[in-house]
Amino acid sequence: MSLTCPLCRGALLPAEKFYRCEQGHAFDLAKESYLSLLHGRQKGEGRGDSKAMILARDRVHRAGVFDPLVSALAALPFEKSPRNILELGCGEGFFLGHMVRAHGIPTSYGLDLSVDAVKLAAKTLKQSLILRADLLNALPFADGSLNLIQSIFAPRPLAEISRVLRPGGYALFVYPQTDHWQELRAFLPLAKIGEEKLPADLEGFTAVASVHVTGKIELTHAVLVDLVEMSPSIHRLTREETPWQSLLPASLAATLSLRVALFRKA
Ligand SMILES: C[S@@+](CC[C@H](N)C(=O)[O-])C[C@H]1O[C@@H](n2cnc3c(N)ncnc32)[C@H](O)[C@@H]1O
Repeated sequence: MSLTCPLCRGALLPAEKFYRCEQGHAFDLAKESYLSLLHGRQKGEGRGDSKAMILARDRVHRAGVFDPLVSALAALPFEKSPRNILELGCGEGFFLGHMVRAHGIPTSYGLDLSVDAVKLAAKTLKQSLILRADLLNALPFADGSLNLIQSIFAPRPLAEISRVLRPGGYALFVYPQTDHWQELRAFLPLAKIGEEKLPADLEGFTAVASVHVTGKIELTHAVLVDLVEMSPSIHRLTREETPWQSLLPASLAATLSLRVALFRKA
């Protein structure tokens, strides 16, 4: 078992409706079956994506908008199937589920801070253990215990990723390129996509694959609304009371442009 107690770092083991470490720290399984590792003052934290953002992302995924990414993930060149996987910022679990199925991964963990994300992920991914935790804290896993960690459109705590990956384990990152959905910007003042900060050479890792997933995708008005709703720009548009839905076209052919980067720990 690779899960560790966020309070004392001892092994965290399953009991009936909770997980407990040898020191007696206990964490309840929610009725929706996710495990909340938030403790003390963290418990009241409402950070992470809102319910509206999670539901909009779920609809976009179901509409097949990211199918080219799903195919690229399925084609990743692992030497052999990883025995376990952790997704950091797993949202409602769409890409975690695909990776588990495509690569036959027997043990899987999803981690997110948003309560609405972990509820939906736990409901959809019955075989995965879904954790509610802050990925900016120490990750609740033992040193060298994981074979694959992925962060897709989510933060990447590199030092912790390196600590919990075993030697030969994989780190997988997916992030947007500057021209991602660029046509949408003619209609709305969306947040800029910054130049990617991830260096080509990660210390202690070897680059295994770097794939540019790109193509023109036909987006309906409903999908365009959801793409905006699930993005961080929604906070500013709402705050400034921009009538943003009516500014979007009936349909749009827009550029999907993503980088998939796979690294292997030395
Ligand atoms: C853009 S979404 C990506 C979700 C998923 N990977 C996907 O592509 O469908 C980013 C996710 O990271 C989560 N997140 C953001 N900050 C976090 C943190 N500090 N700890 C854990 N999760 C976090 C959000 O709640 C959200 O679900």
